[in-house]
Amino acid sequence: MASLLPLLLLLCLQSPLTTSLTLSVADYGAIGDGRCYDTSAIQSAIDACAAAGGGRVVFPSGGTYLTKTLNLRSGVVLRLERGSRILGGTRRGDYPAEQRRWYVVLAEDAKGVGIEGEGTIDGQGGAFVERIDGRKNVMVSWNGTGMGCLGDECRPRLVGFVGCKGVLVSGLRFVQPAYWCLHLVRCEGTTIRDVQIKGDWDTPNNDGIDVEDSNNTLIERVRIDTGDDAICPKSSTGPVVNLVARDCWIRTKSSAIKLGSASCVNNVTFSNINISTRYYDPSWWGRAEPIYVTTCPRDRTSKSGAISDLLFINISAMSENGIFLSGSSGAPLRDLRFINVNLTYKRWTNYSGGLFDYRPGCHGFVKHGTAGVMVEHVNGLVMENVKMKWVEENGLKGWDDPMEFRPDSVTGLALNGVTSYVERL
Ligand SMILES: *[C@@H]1O[C@H](CO)[C@@H](O)[C@H](O)[C@H]1NC(C)=O
Ligand SMILES: *[C@@H]1O[C@H](CO)[C@@H](O)[C@H](O)[C@H]1NC(C)=O
Ligand SMILES: *[C@@H]1O[C@H](CO)[C@@H](O)[C@H](O)[C@H]1NC(C)=O
Ligand SMILES: *[C@@H]1O[C@H](CO)[C@@H](O)[C@H](O)[C@H]1NC(C)=O
Ligand SMILES: *[C@@H]1O[C@H](CO)[C@@H](O)[C@H](O)[C@H]1NC(C)=O
Ligand SMILES: *[C@@H]1O[C@H](CO)[C@@H](O)[C@H](O)[C@H]1NC(C)=O
Ligand SMILES: *[C@@H]1O[C@H](CO)[C@@H](O)[C@H](O)[C@H]1NC(C)=O
Repeated sequence: MASLLPLLLLLCLQSPLTTSLTLSVADYGAIGDGRCYDTSAIQSAIDACAAAGGGRVVFPSGGTYLTKTLNLRSGVVLRLERGSRILGGTRRGDYPAEQRRWYVVLAEDAKGVGIEGEGTIDGQGGAFVERIDGRKNVMVSWNGTGMGCLGDECRPRLVGFVGCKGVLVSGLRFVQPAYWCLHLVRCEGTTIRDVQIKGDWDTPNNDGIDVEDSNNTLIERVRIDTGDDAICPKSSTGPVVNLVARDCWIRTKSSAIKLGSASCVNNVTFSNINISTRYYDPSWWGRAEPIYVTTCPRDRTSKSGAISDLLFINISAMSENGIFLSGSSGAPLRDLRFINVNLTYKRWTNYSGGLFDYRPGCHGFVKHGTAGVMVEHVNGLVMENVKMKWVEENGLKGWDDPMEFRPDSVTGLALNGVTSYVERL
């Protein structure tokens, strides 16, 4: 039996479904006018589908289905037909009592679940803006006591898979999350492919994909355009192991790829990723780093992380800031490889640079010249065929050295075919 498990998981990844049952939410009374709540109709369809052994729950095209939190069940795949839209509610009462369950669509402890099709899931993030601010929007926050969240961060996420096995998310658009967009927690065997994520540039916490405590994850052909971090492996109760992200396009003004804050992460590959990052107001965490990796503890109560075996291959980035690789003493980053990487450094906004951003933990904000690649506390860094190009308009103002490291904190450095040159406009 044990030897069958990998095969079963593989089958799950290809298609989480074993039955062909298809139920339409319209047959369960969903109206799809975007004004009446269709929650109970949709939830009845999901529950009936699960009770019958699983299958697809279809959202017919043309409908806009306003809903409170939907609970996805084992064996059920939501299929959003072209032009259909799930609209998350914007009232506190549209979400469960416990903050950890605040998602528009939530699957908990489910097996063989997914969301597919050509429709849209919309978190109506705009409705959570209390005051528009070009520096950082002020957001509605359900931060009453006992909410399990702090300050202005108490808003619902868009889609969450928590403790699931065999997850497939394919082909949809995710727009306007009020907080994070796609969140995996303690999942095993997830594929996210052909997905587009569109957050808001002025709304904080619009992360693209947060992979938390989850193993064997594949992210491919995903396009992420958002204000906050785009792909974030992170850990809180367990490690993140075996993650592949490939053939992706990312634009953001925080960090594009972010492994941070006391994370335990092992065996991750990013390949064929096109990145564009720009500076923004310093009140944002994340300063336009195309790649940001740190094991720095989030706060005094947390331990340093442990990050090892990261491969970045076939990456191209155009950015206003450099790559930031920062272990901590006693918890160095281990075995990082950068192969075939084109980095174009250019300044095109008027925001000031010259800061290392260690937030939320460690040294906070540190005034420091901007290196192409900043390396500290790393054991094992291979760079092969890495091109750094500086685009100069008015001198190389704001840029410092191509690579910066202190010999006492970096060991096992191997550079092969690393070039650096200036292109004058
Ligand atoms: C609640 O969030 C608002 C911003 O939406 C903030 O101004 C306020 O300080 C927060 N209150 C608490 C207790 O965190
Ligand atoms: C992921 O793998 C690690 C071992 O590498 C294990 O400790 C952990 O429980 C696994 N997590 C999940 C969600 O399966
Ligand atoms: C690393 O991850 C890849 C892809 O998920 C997997 O094929 C490979 O077996 C993993 N390597 C180790 C040493 O676990
Ligand atoms: C990345 O950019 C290259 C060159 O512009 C292009 O050929 C490739 O298709 C792009 N890949 C993605 C995933 O956007
Ligand atoms: C990097 O640029 C070179 C041309 O200078 C190009 O041949 C190569 O495909 C580029 N690689 C990536 C990963 O974009
Ligand atoms: C990286 O790009 C090279 C040249 O285009 C290609 O041969 C290789 O298969 C790519 N590797 C990955 C892991 O995408
Ligand atoms: C940058 O320019 C924008 C308009 O393009 C302006 O709103 C903003 O105040 C400027 N920021 C700084 C730091 O000068």
